Amino acid sequence: MRFAEPTLQRCCLCRGEAESVAIAIQIGRIARPGCVIALYGELGAGKTRFAQGVASGLGVTEPVTSPTFTLLNEYRHARFPFFHVDCYRLGTDGVETFILALDEWMGEEGVVVIEWAERLQAYLPPEHLQVDIEPAGENKRWLHFTAYGRQAVELLRQLKGYDFDCSHR
Ligand SMILES: Nc1ncnc2c1ncn2[C@@H]1O[C@H](COP(=O)(O)OP(=O)(O)O)[C@@H](O)[C@H]1O
Ligand SMILES: [Mg+2]
Repeated sequence: MRFAEPTLQRCCLCRGEAESVAIAIQIGRIARPGCVIALYGELGAGKTRFAQGVASGLGVTEPVTSPTFTLLNEYRHARFPFFHVDCYRLGTDGVETFILALDEWMGEEGVVVIEWAERLQAYLPPEHLQVDIEPAGENKRWLHFTAYGRQAVELLRQLKGYDFDCSHR
């Protein structure tokens, strides 16, 4: 495993969109510059809603829409710059060029949220927070968090108000 240690796993069942967004907002409030959040989950799982929550927690006031065609949207007027990446349309040819650019952005002191992170799996930084969103009935979603590295573990530890029981897995 090339991802950083220590690691920490936590899960929670969100019973509606508001709960998923609330936890994302909490993450946006705690997130520090350099934080990378990798989102996984099928179409409609709630990745964009999650990214919007993080943005809101960071203090982004503009509307946040998925950068499906532009691959990246940046929001500069928050507590820290917020970078929203959507790799859905990232072809394999485009990856190398995109990664060069992304490295520059990630090098900046901002918070990065990546939708369809599996398409950048080989290029993800060793330290990041992985979030797998798994539909569990109409408005329910399991959120599976895996933190890689000290900063992400610390962030995950600070989340409150949920029963983070992973024993269903
Ligand atoms: N618990 C939940 N968490 C997140 N989204 C939910 C939840 N329940 C229902 N939804 C709905 O699922 C959809 C998620 O859409 P979106 O965030 O665009 O997905 P993705 O970016 O993964 O394709 C939205 O229409 C949202 O209202
Ligand atoms: Mg999306």
